[in-house]
Amino acid sequence: MEKIYMKNLDVLTNMMDESKNTVYNANAKVVVLSTMNMRYENIAFNADLKEHPYALTNTIVLDAIKQFEILQEISFLDNNLELSGCKSHYQEEKHEELFNIIWDKYNEEEYSVYVKRYVDRINFNKLDELIIGKDCIDFGCGNGVFCFAMLEKGANTVTGIDFGKDSIAFANKYSDMKNIKDKTNFKAATVYETGYDSDKFDFLVQNGVFHHTDNENLAIQEAKRVLKKDGWMWYYTDGEGGISYDLWDASVHMLKDVCAEFISNTLESMGIRREKIVHIMDGMSATYRHTSWDEITTRLSKFGFGNFKRLSGGTDTDFDLDVIEKDPYGREKFGEGDLRVLCQLLEK
Ligand SMILES: C[S@@+](CC[C@H](N)C(=O)[O-])C[C@H]1O[C@@H](n2cnc3c(N)ncnc32)[C@H](O)[C@@H]1O
Repeated sequence: MEKIYMKNLDVLTNMMDESKNTVYNANAKVVVLSTMNMRYENIAFNADLKEHPYALTNTIVLDAIKQFEILQEISFLDNNLELSGCKSHYQEEKHEELFNIIWDKYNEEEYSVYVKRYVDRINFNKLDELIIGKDCIDFGCGNGVFCFAMLEKGANTVTGIDFGKDSIAFANKYSDMKNIKDKTNFKAATVYETGYDSDKFDFLVQNGVFHHTDNENLAIQEAKRVLKKDGWMWYYTDGEGGISYDLWDASVHMLKDVCAEFISNTLESMGIRREKIVHIMDGMSATYRHTSWDEITTRLSKFGFGNFKRLSGGTDTDFDLDVIEKDPYGREKFGEGDLRVLCQLLEK
């Protein structure tokens, strides 16, 4: 069946692109697009749909068009305050700003729930042996969540690098508070040049980072350099082909002139839960490179990685194979799904 919603997604895109660049319209875009994407979750996570998800998605896109039209109908409310643009349209700078804003806003309780989710993920995939007593590094660690989870699982040391300075400050503060400074090392750096010695780490994590980079090969090369031969890597990257990717990608385009801080403030003022704010902002602001299992494992093989195994997120809201295969429309909804690759560095 054809992706009938795509045509209407183009209509919505044109409407938003042609609207005036005002604060009023920016708020309207954030409200309409977050509504559309969150309504899609009701379709995505219902494995018992009575109608084809392409048709249901088309309905929510049409509703988004209507909702935006209504807000345009009352645009006499608009005080015509011009929206000041994003600091940068250059992809990597945009991501630096976006994630820096997202990651340092957790309170202690929210954060411990977040760390627990990553501990569960390690348990679900039975990775203890690769982590206990090992020196681990997380490329693009955000606020350090995966590092703290690995430490909880018994890692010898954890190192996290990210170009978001506030995210790194958050991780350092948490480490201080938990009195585990001797086991952790967080620093602001790019994934292209970490500054660590070669052959230093046993286990390397890149969890949803390299699909945002401009030069994925350069990042993989750096990962290979710091990882010991026979060391293991957790490589999580976005799949391709599902409805959700189409909706998020179109939303990123429609919000290209609305900076991350503005989106964050709008969602916060709506009283939305922290984890959902993070999820919506990530989906509506970050640019993703989509890939397939064959493409990513072929790419990693060229750098000497092998022994590939597909891992799982471990929850029903992750787009993993187990979730996809349980759903008669799994392929339409999630395409290739989330690609969580475990692999070993066989050749240096
Ligand atoms: C989706 S977040 C994932 C964060 C973390 N890995 C996690 O699982 O929660 C992507 C992270 O990659 C970081 N990032 C993106 N490009 C980067 C680069 N070129 N160098 C360093 N960090 C980068 C961002 O700052 C952000 O914290």
